[in-house]
Amino acid sequence: MRIVVGADHGGYRLKEEIARFLADEGYEVEDVGTFDEESTDYPDYAVQVARAVTEGRADLGILVCGTGIGMSVAANKVRGVRAALATDCYMARMAREHNDANILCLGGRVLGVGSALEVVRTFLEARFAGGRHARRIGKIEAIERGE
Ligand code: RB5
Repeated sequence: MRIVVGADHGGYRLKEEIARFLADEGYEVEDVGTFDEESTDYPDYAVQVARAVTEGRADLGILVCGTGIGMSVAANKVRGVRAALATDCYMARMAREHNDANILCLGGRVLGVGSALEVVRTFLEARFAGGRHARRIGKIEAIERGE
């Protein structure tokens, strides 16, 4: 599975841990940056990860900023993205099972590394449940089409 990761300065350290974890687990990882703690703008990374997912270069994306909020707001502006902010494993599992989220957003100033890696693992191992949830995703896609 190909995972694209990105972060601003607030998420840089956690993103590095996540990228290392993913590689160790055997995932193919693309890292769009940022690559240090110098102040930067989260939409610049959100859009890169969002496009990598919607254009099919990655199966799923992970975005990290200070809270995860800015990344989720920005990534969800790209058509076809369902970016979910998760602060625990339950949210991460539901994001995949019910919302078919294709990007996980995390707060580097919210979660410790151990908790964050469990959230990442849960997100990647969960599967979309389909059924009534597919109908609801269809309604989101209709909104995107302006219907
Ligand atoms: C940067 O200070 C911070 O605003 C950013 O990382 C993020 O938390 C925004 O939502």
